[in-house]
Amino acid sequence: MATINANFLKLKAGYLFPEIARRVKAFTEANPDKAPRIIRCGIGDVTEPLPAAVRAAMHEAIDEMGSRETFKGYGPEQGYEFLRQAIVDHQFQDLGISADEVFISDGSKCDTGNVLDIFGKGNVIAITDPVYPVYVDTNVMAGNTGESDETGAYAGLVYLPCNAENGFVAGLPDRKVDLVYLCFPNNPTGAVATRAQLEAWVKYAKENDTVIFFDAAYEAFIQDPEIPRSIFEIEGARDVAIEFRSFSKNGGFTGVRCAYVVIPKTVSGKTGDGTRVPLHQLWSRRHSTKFNGASYPVQKGAAAVFSEQGKAEVTELIAHYMGNAKLLVDAAKAAGLQVFGGVNAPYVWVGCPAGTDSWGMFDKMLSEAQVVITPGAGFGAGGEGWFRISAFNTRANVEEVCRRLATLLG
Ligand SMILES: Cc1ncc(COP(=O)(O)O)c(C=O)c1O
Repeated sequence: MATINANFLKLKAGYLFPEIARRVKAFTEANPDKAPRIIRCGIGDVTEPLPAAVRAAMHEAIDEMGSRETFKGYGPEQGYEFLRQAIVDHQFQDLGISADEVFISDGSKCDTGNVLDIFGKGNVIAITDPVYPVYVDTNVMAGNTGESDETGAYAGLVYLPCNAENGFVAGLPDRKVDLVYLCFPNNPTGAVATRAQLEAWVKYAKENDTVIFFDAAYEAFIQDPEIPRSIFEIEGARDVAIEFRSFSKNGGFTGVRCAYVVIPKTVSGKTGDGTRVPLHQLWSRRHSTKFNGASYPVQKGAAAVFSEQGKAEVTELIAHYMGNAKLLVDAAKAAGLQVFGGVNAPYVWVGCPAGTDSWGMFDKMLSEAQVVITPGAGFGAGGEGWFRISAFNTRANVEEVCRRLATLLG
């Protein structure tokens, strides 16, 4: 009989979003009259259409596929040169990154999980708490943890607490870790790290031979020019960090699928006997063995994000979502709640009213206001007492959510 990867059995039964969907379905079935009022601010999915520049480029690419002369079959596994170069030119100018250090994929969710393929067993792995749940669950699947306890914390992971006191930016670990996941702007808290904070992380990584996984999926939402957009803006980061980026939230590609990882050739890990091996070499091998490239029309669409028209349209999209974020921040504050995020990020992180826990707040918002939020506890024990409102919505929906918040809590 085939044995299974028993690590999967350690996973907590309800991944956050299925549990939210289950509760929304139960509410809808019990209250069919209220179902049409439901506004979803739970999952961080974009709502606005793809930029016209992206659509035009994808149409053109499809037409190329329609003639033998310009038809494309399998492309390079690492991504087409035109996209890798455009990324370097527009996102990493003057940061010493070359096009062959960029690996195109079909999503950051896959990349942040798949990257564990190239690391060995026994690494000490640090994650923040609260955290984007994919980092945790993929480590559980890979066998890098023990069982979870009653708070949902897994044995073997180092949890870095994020809270109101540290502004939801994790402090450095009090021990040596081999891998650390950092996500700025942060999902779920909307926190951003200052240059000094990132410098401290890079220094720590150099001193402790740590690899930093820097998830910058929300980089486009940074408004403050002083906040670094890439870990590679920090001196020395090229030796210790890899960065994940996605077209999902800037170009609205959540349904189109395109992302990339930047792995400088200078960042390395060790074999059992201490020999250093560049991660670039391993990821390149992994990517070309297990992935056959993102589709040509999608990569053409992604490159169009960097055209003059594409950049202007993305700027408008970001302004739209950040306008939503400001309305939500103001409404939550006016309702007397404690608020983080929503300034350089599309997520507003709100303290629950006294006496209500985060799933309690979820149920209250759903049953009394028909607004779906994300309970902080779903992001880890450190998220208890908080909830996340996503600014990815239409303006009309956000205005309505603000009115309902005022009625519910005002
Ligand atoms: C922090 C973070 N990283 C990665 C992703 C996944 O992005 P993608 O759509 O590229 O898979 C998300 C999506 O919500 C995210 O919040």
